[in-house]
Amino acid sequence: MRQRTLGRSDLELPVVIAGAWAIGGGPYWGETDEDQAVDALRVAMDHGIDAIDTAPIYGLGHSERVVGKAIAGRRNEVKVLTKVGLRWDREEGDLFFENKNDDGSVFKIYRNGRPDSVKAEVDASLERLGIDCIDLLQVHWPDPTTPIAETMGALADVRAAGKIREIGVSNFTPDLLEQAQVALGDVPLASDQPKYSLVARGMETGVLPWAREHHVGVLVYSPLEQGLLTGKVRGDRHFEEGSGRDRRPTFRPANRDAVNRVLDTVVQPIADAHGSTLAQTIIAWTVGVPGITAALVGVRTPEQAIENAGAGDLLLTDEEFVEIDEAFEALKLDLSAD
Ligand SMILES: NC(=O)c1ccc[n+]([C@@H]2O[C@H](COP(=O)([O-])OP(=O)(O)OC[C@H]3O[C@@H](n4cnc5c(N)ncnc54)[C@H](OP(=O)(O)O)[C@@H]3O)[C@@H](O)[C@H]2O)c1
Repeated sequence: MRQRTLGRSDLELPVVIAGAWAIGGGPYWGETDEDQAVDALRVAMDHGIDAIDTAPIYGLGHSERVVGKAIAGRRNEVKVLTKVGLRWDREEGDLFFENKNDDGSVFKIYRNGRPDSVKAEVDASLERLGIDCIDLLQVHWPDPTTPIAETMGALADVRAAGKIREIGVSNFTPDLLEQAQVALGDVPLASDQPKYSLVARGMETGVLPWAREHHVGVLVYSPLEQGLLTGKVRGDRHFEEGSGRDRRPTFRPANRDAVNRVLDTVVQPIADAHGSTLAQTIIAWTVGVPGITAALVGVRTPEQAIENAGAGDLLLTDEEFVEIDEAFEALKLDLSAD
């Protein structure tokens, strides 16, 4: 597994990081099997994926607890990345969205970057994860009701207290990244975590050039477009009723067909030439984009963990990289809102 340094920080990360959102369950992903989730993360570590990304909001604490179980006794083998700034248990800050519990009751999620909230969240995450220091703590979403300097001040304090190693953000625009770095002063802003895949390339023209210029790491999320780019979401695959993926514009029948045509005709021959799978080839392409440090790839099963780990040493040729790039660039998906 190739390793890279995250921005100007001291953190070395694998190019493929295990994402622990789906294994947290909850309404978006539906039922998950906890034993299988723990196994998936342990197998990922066994195969060189020695970093895991989670967040308190994933399964309302459940994902962090599952990660805690998976890394118990193996803390020194793995980097733990988690987040702050989305609260379901405190009505304060900026109302972000509403969601439903299994029993149908509604709960509200707030963006909250207030210093006392951030500090309390770090302590709660450390407890759920069963560790005494988080390797990378990221602000999950910017909170428009709290000055960024205040949030960054709180993060610098928890870093000085030894509770976190490095500070990052997620879903920040270049303007907000600039504000965060200025507020941190001499402490490096380690990374941003934007959404990015071959069918969601918006950050190529904003966050990515900014991050490259300022030597800030980039950890991209949903690089497989939640499974669509693995070739395993064909027209006949059904998701649980109410599942988040069913509502994604990219998962509409016409879009699935168009993506699968490119996977079958352009990506599959390249995968075959390397003896790799579609998922591995897509991940290798993603981490081959200059400026991207690593891909956060969600794993639900041990088999997926092994497959995704295999992408960590796969190198595409320049010609293959361009061929895949251009084929997806030419794809015109209908991503309009319903
Ligand atoms: N900062 C943020 O706002 C934010 C937002 C989203 C995600 N993230 C992070 O990024 C991580 C990854 O993003 P994501 O989970 O949204 O999307 P993703 O990595 O593109 O897709 C993950 C899903 O694809 C399927 N999959 C994974 N490997 C596969 C394989 N080898 N073959 C076939 N299917 C495979 C699995 O679903 P099935 O098994 O059900 O098919 C899995 O849950 C998250 O876990 C989280 O850590 C962060």
